[in-house]
Amino acid sequence: MSNKPRYWAVIPAAGVGARMGADRPKQYLPLAGKTVIEHSIAALVALDSIASITLALAPADPYWPELKISGPIRVVDGGRERADSVLNALRSLQGEADADDWVLVHDAARPCVRHSALLALLAQLAEHPVGGILAHPLADTLKQSDARQQVEATLDRSRIWAAQTPQLFRFGLLLNALEQALQQGLAVTDEASAIEQAGLKAALVDGPADNIKITRPEDLPLAEFILAKHLNEE
Ligand code: CTP
Ligand code: MG
Repeated sequence: MSNKPRYWAVIPAAGVGARMGADRPKQYLPLAGKTVIEHSIAALVALDSIASITLALAPADPYWPELKISGPIRVVDGGRERADSVLNALRSLQGEADADDWVLVHDAARPCVRHSALLALLAQLAEHPVGGILAHPLADTLKQSDARQQVEATLDRSRIWAAQTPQLFRFGLLLNALEQALQQGLAVTDEASAIEQAGLKAALVDGPADNIKITRPEDLPLAEFILAKHLNEE
């Protein structure tokens, strides 16, 4: 019998933020008195069960050294795509993390994740053999378009979820799934897609829809509003 599984956090933060179009990567933009990435890190630091947080940063990132952040943080170089950044972080944990340990992958660009959602994710997956993700069921009626941007079909909304992060998977399974998917040149936009391509089933854990990803300029005032709402509720 192996020991109780540990939790390792990984934060991909090596993106350039092209859609934001700011003077610096969006994770370093100001938000409610800190930078975006500081909120995302603080959410994970608040989890007692995390053994360490590995940040994947752009090589020679000039912004990170300016931040004064405490916590069990390590830094590795990111890669070309998000999945390459996550894989670099996982490889750096090889030899230290056990196959059955958990790895919690959270976008630097999701600063609004609630503590209660993190606790729910960890609790609901504690005995799961593979892992799963925070996600929310979509409220809109969904249309599939044809090549001429006309409605081809209306999708069964009851089975459509929007994927968020954190995504929590067994270390060994996720490492193998990402290695395989990237070797085969498959598109991997999140951890769950690599797990799916490996033929494994990831669980969907229902989380609040306000765990938004900062992507475009209009997302910043929205995130500011959401964070203020969370503070008010405490
Ligand atoms: N990311 C990463 N390495 C990459 C690309 C993205 O670590 N090569 C990270 C981003 O920093 C972000 C998360 O993955 O925290 C989600 O990616 P996304 O929202 O697409 O961020 P960017 O790629 O920076 O934005 P854009 O696609 O608009 O350029
Ligand atoms: Mg991107």
